[in-house]
Amino acid sequence: MRVDEEGLDTDHLASLLEEGARPKVVYVIPDFQNPTGATLSAARRAHLAALSERYGFVVLADDAYRPLRFEGEEPGGLPGDGGNLVRVSTFAKTLGPGLRLGWAVLPEWLVPAVVRIRQNQDQHSSLLTQRAVAELLGRPGAYDGILDRARSIYRARSTALRRALEGLAPDRIRLEPVRGGIFAWARILDDEVDVVRLRRVANELGTDFSVGTYFDPSGSGAFADRVRLGFSGHDEARLRDAATRLSQALGDPRSRG
Ligand SMILES: Cc1ncc(COP(=O)(O)O)c(C=O)c1O
Repeated sequence: MRVDEEGLDTDHLASLLEEGARPKVVYVIPDFQNPTGATLSAARRAHLAALSERYGFVVLADDAYRPLRFEGEEPGGLPGDGGNLVRVSTFAKTLGPGLRLGWAVLPEWLVPAVVRIRQNQDQHSSLLTQRAVAELLGRPGAYDGILDRARSIYRARSTALRRALEGLAPDRIRLEPVRGGIFAWARILDDEVDVVRLRRVANELGTDFSVGTYFDPSGSGAFADRVRLGFSGHDEARLRDAATRLSQALGDPRSRG
């Protein structure tokens, strides 16, 4: 399914439905999509809700990055309580990756089937992890405090990375706006730069990023001029160093195809 700066392209979805596609579920990351960071606009949320009603599919919203909004308001408009919306979330982006613990909010009619499928898959998540997270959630304000802190750290880190790259390589790389989440999606502006070679040079200089084409399941070469820059795990000084190294790599002749 196509995605642009407003998130999932619901016109594309509508055309597939008109041509006869009959999905049971449409998966979407409404807020800070991975990898593009795009947030589904209010108009597209409403369009998706209308399509789900008309064609009877469930909207499966993956809310992994939703609590990490540090700028602006979340657009409204998903199907709401109409019985067609499943929201899944995870502690992976807020408490720690690898916890393998999350939750789902389902319409009543889906609960028995989802419980059955889950039981057939792996019975349940680690009891130890559940116990530790339950303990934390039971302390008033603790989880909210972690989210507040994460939002303010990520705002500062994404701003540091953006400012550094805008200062060092304004003609070579352009970052999409970052209003939440943990990474920036960026376009390499110089056509001659080959992103895979660029990464090799960046690695030699001591920094790294994800190559855009890795996120193209069709293998069609989409996102060939894109990179995903993770900013959550490093402080501002390190991010400025990373920006310096990336801009050096962008200017290095070995990064050209
Ligand atoms: C959209 C999205 N959902 C879920 C996850 C991972 O969550 P979990 O580790 O709980 O499966 C990721 C991690 O990369 C993600 O990007």
